[in-house]
Amino acid sequence: MARMERAAFPRLDLSRLGLGCMGMSAVYATDSPRDDAESIRTIHRALDLGVDLLDTAESYGPYINEELVGRAVAGRRDQVVIATKFGVISHPHGDKVGTLDSSPENIRLAVDGSLKRLRTDHIDLYYQHRIDPDTPIEETVGVMGELVAAGKVRHLGLSEVLPDRIRRAHAVHPITALQYEYSLWTRNPEAEVLPLARRLGIGVVAYAPLGRGFLTGRIRTREDLDASDWRRGNARFSAENFDQNMTIVDEVKAVAEDAGVTPAQVAIAWVLAQGDDIVPIPGTKQVARLDENVAALDVRLTPEQLRRLSGLRTPVGSRYETGTYATPEGE
Ligand SMILES: NC(=O)c1ccc[n+]([C@@H]2O[C@H](COP(=O)([O-])OP(=O)(O)OC[C@H]3O[C@@H](n4cnc5c(N)ncnc54)[C@H](OP(=O)(O)O)[C@@H]3O)[C@@H](O)[C@H]2O)c1
Repeated sequence: MARMERAAFPRLDLSRLGLGCMGMSAVYATDSPRDDAESIRTIHRALDLGVDLLDTAESYGPYINEELVGRAVAGRRDQVVIATKFGVISHPHGDKVGTLDSSPENIRLAVDGSLKRLRTDHIDLYYQHRIDPDTPIEETVGVMGELVAAGKVRHLGLSEVLPDRIRRAHAVHPITALQYEYSLWTRNPEAEVLPLARRLGIGVVAYAPLGRGFLTGRIRTREDLDASDWRRGNARFSAENFDQNMTIVDEVKAVAEDAGVTPAQVAIAWVLAQGDDIVPIPGTKQVARLDENVAALDVRLTPEQLRRLSGLRTPVGSRYETGTYATPEGE
């Protein structure tokens, strides 16, 4: 096996591609049922291939996804960069998923829970999952910095924050990673966030690089989505928008045919081509798909193919339902 490429993150050594673990326990219910044994095999396969960044959050499940990751990495802890997140569960206020809370009190409770479930004494990359409008970012990052000083956390990250808050956070404690949805059909970070991240020397983690599975071409109709699947209620997958958005997938497929690879590999290769300081974390709970996705590292799209992909039209429908806790800042 060739040595896994490394990402160009200024502060953290990590593989060029990570593995998103959320769908192993939560959110998506289509295609394959929850299967912890296959999920653990998928994580082990990732580590065997040199993919060391595993992405989870206390809210995935909640809790069971961190537990699964903890089980999977037991005995292999030194091969893994564990990334997890706090901030959308309020422990002092009933542990309900969906209460934004980045207060010092909540962070101190959250980190100890995550450490326990992950069966480790340190988290490599600890993210604020969503901003808390009631807690100044300086206060949040101040406490996150204390966790670094205490050895519980190695690096700090922020998910879905806008530039003003990035600057303020970074002034309190160096931020190592910013995580955003970034893919062929979600290009928002390009305007301001990517240039700022580069100016400040912060790496970017691209979540949902497969457009939550849509860009792979495997979901052809809404009926392919299980009734309990989060995507059923998402505007980009709605009855009104589905067919229009499918024309984007058809284009991705055409480029994939041209390149002799799969649509999933094209979607990942396009993100990889946007810079070696951007690490995609495609999510899968299946070994065969992990292999397919990792092989995207060997795909070299031509300038013409990249131009075609970058010129794809924007999808119809917002990526989050406005007003839910998960709605990113500014949307
Ligand atoms: N910071 C945040 O707010 C945030 C939000 C969402 C997600 N995330 C993180 O980002 C990670 C990745 O995002 P995501 O999982 O939401 O979306 P994604 O990576 O764009 O797509 C995942 C979906 O694609 C399917 N899939 C994966 N590889 C495939 C392939 N080769 N062919 C066909 N289908 C394939 C998966 O199904 P199978 O599992 O059945 O293969 C799953 O349904 C998550 O796991 C999570 O860790 C972070």
